[in-house]
Amino acid sequence: MSGDAMDMATQEAGNGKWGMTWFGHATWRVQYGDSVVWVDPFLADNPSCPITVEEVERADAILVTHGHFDHVADVAALAKHTGAVVVANFEIAQWLSGKHGVANTVGMNVGGRAPLPQGSVKMVPAIHSSSLPDGTYGGLAAGLVLEFEDRRLYFAGDTSLCSEMKLLTGSIDVAVLPIGDLFTMGPEDSLEAVRWMQPRGVLPSHYNTWPPIQQDAAAWKSSVESETSSRAYVPEVGQTLWI
Ligand code: NI
Ligand code: MN
Repeated sequence: MSGDAMDMATQEAGNGKWGMTWFGHATWRVQYGDSVVWVDPFLADNPSCPITVEEVERADAILVTHGHFDHVADVAALAKHTGAVVVANFEIAQWLSGKHGVANTVGMNVGGRAPLPQGSVKMVPAIHSSSLPDGTYGGLAAGLVLEFEDRRLYFAGDTSLCSEMKLLTGSIDVAVLPIGDLFTMGPEDSLEAVRWMQPRGVLPSHYNTWPPIQQDAAAWKSSVESETSSRAYVPEVGQTLWI
């Protein structure tokens, strides 16, 4: 992690090499060079998402944090549409290949690291459940740390505030944290996570999809920036931040 101030532009072509786009709920696209990674793609039944699986132009890898429908519903379809490798915990990888015909999967588990195009992903603890939509056991829910050259991106996934986040203190450039409450941590606990981890930038996720997880992201951003040294960015759906 360099000491430079993070240059995070909101235009489509900024100074950074890493583009992060929010597609609503917990669905993110990370692009760097000519590689594209999706995290928890939830498109068809995601009321916030403006595009369909068929409209996705590219995915080299699809990363899955856990087995709930709002994280796995479109994984198989997107994998077939794009030919991407799916990286998930062992149980979800087995389910996708065995029951949904996904050709290329990597099964892993918490604590492990798997290669990505031009980088790697480490699966880290989250506190959450992970049953698959048909009731199959979905292994442990996880967070993901994506490591590329000089960027470390943390996707907390669905989780409560947990002390394992302290292990990431000072090592994260951009943290993507749930703020929706009810199913995950809410704004106050995510603010505490920012205090602990001290990422350079933080983005809110898993909110405003449905009324029970409605949150005021602007107020959350103000709290983060007045009470921590991290910068908060609240992208619109479909907007790309270049970091
Ligand atoms: Ni969940
Ligand atoms: Mn969820």
